[in-house]
Amino acid sequence: MSRLVVVSNRLADPRKPAAGGLAVALGETLKRTGGVWFGWSGKVVEDGTPGEGALHVSQAGSVTLAELDLCAEDHDAYYRGYANGVLWPVFHYRLDLAHFESGHLGGYRRVNQLFARKLMALLKPDDLIWIHDYHLIPLAAELRAMGCGNRIGFFLHIPLPPQQILAAIPSHEWLMRALFAYDLVGFQTEADLLHFSHYVKAEATAETVGVSQFRAFNSTVQAKAFPIGIDVEDFQRLGCAREARETFETTRKEYSRRRLLIGVDRLDYSKGLPHRIRAFRELLQQYPENRHSATLLQVASPSREDVDAYADIQRELESLCGSINGDYGDFEWMPIRYMHRTVARKRLPGLYRACAVALVTPLRDGMNLVAKEFVAAQDEEDPGVLVLSRFAGAAEQMKEALLVNPYDTHGTAQAIQHALQMPLEERKERHAALLARIREFDVHWWCRSFLQTLEQSRSEA
Ligand code: ADP
Ligand code: F6P
Repeated sequence: MSRLVVVSNRLADPRKPAAGGLAVALGETLKRTGGVWFGWSGKVVEDGTPGEGALHVSQAGSVTLAELDLCAEDHDAYYRGYANGVLWPVFHYRLDLAHFESGHLGGYRRVNQLFARKLMALLKPDDLIWIHDYHLIPLAAELRAMGCGNRIGFFLHIPLPPQQILAAIPSHEWLMRALFAYDLVGFQTEADLLHFSHYVKAEATAETVGVSQFRAFNSTVQAKAFPIGIDVEDFQRLGCAREARETFETTRKEYSRRRLLIGVDRLDYSKGLPHRIRAFRELLQQYPENRHSATLLQVASPSREDVDAYADIQRELESLCGSINGDYGDFEWMPIRYMHRTVARKRLPGLYRACAVALVTPLRDGMNLVAKEFVAAQDEEDPGVLVLSRFAGAAEQMKEALLVNPYDTHGTAQAIQHALQMPLEERKERHAALLARIREFDVHWWCRSFLQTLEQSRSEA
């Protein structure tokens, strides 16, 4: 059996809680398979040298953590500047928020080269390498340039936009060409895969040379959709433990006369938080019977606070929540409880279970694991209802949710009202179908099917 080497920008100790789909999913995968997890240590060295960084190797159970420090200049250009200032907004269809600066691209390349150099020193010839997400798109090309012949797979956790949007990135050809250094490229959805196929055929005159294989730049890459899942059993086990039960009890007791709605997100402009809050205001306005009876609990985990657009969204959200509470709240009832924090993972299932409705309404999302966690945490005899954005990757698999267009405030408010009024039988039917699907396509299915496909694939150089 080959050793698994996972590489991602964000690392997390698999024994500790984390927020963010990638860290949560990979932590759970590696806990089972063992192997190496290589990535940024989270440490920024103020006076370090660009292109250099110390590597710290430690053991966390069966997982070897290899953590690389970055100097401030590299981190700024690679993470804040290029990954989160160009790739994240463009891949989430937000050209208006992208800032193209050539220095940032230089930093992105330099850090990918640094990752490649440090990783090469740790690799064994038959290691299976699995690289994750937009921070590290050119990593395989850098490894190949250093002579790495291992099988290398790549999974993009975020959406891949259509060709016309991708083409706005000044270095888009270089970026997309880098994908051909992989043996296998995985996307979250069939829609993302279609965008890849259109792009490479139009911009790189790629040919399809077999089932899901694309040939261009003298290389062949296999590309497929592998929708990421959660560890349903593990999450349900967490839901039976003391902390989750306590959270359920205290939340139900505190809000005994209320119907609860829940939102759990990183505080990110892609999550559509202001749109969601406006839809909730519309609900209170259009359906006044919800005043005094419905409360929205919104937990937003601090994220990327050094990127300007994130500070803007935080201010907008605080002001919206404040104005709705001011307009509608009174001594007995506040419509919104907004918390700018990360909830302990062991409490999450209890919180989800205490709520009648989940609002998962991103403007664009690769998958969205919160949608799946909410379903997994419900009481099958009295389940809550999922209101899900049609623009979340999860919508491709979760058609029994109430699918909404988050830009349509009125339509979203109507869907929330529908969710609050839904009869028990319909709730049970929808929930059973959703639960069966997230069980079938859980995180183990995702990991197994990606790695099996990778093991069987070989790129022709
Ligand atoms: P993303 O990867 O963009 O953050 P996902 O919904 O796919 O979005 O994954 C988010 C993960 O992080 C989920 O496992 C979720 O439970 C967790 N998470 C997000 N926000 C919070 C929060 N405020 N508190 C605790 N966990 C959170
Ligand atoms: O899942 C998408 C993602 O961008 C991951 O790559 C990332 O780890 C997570 O969201 C959280 O973002 P960050 O690592 O920038 O804090």
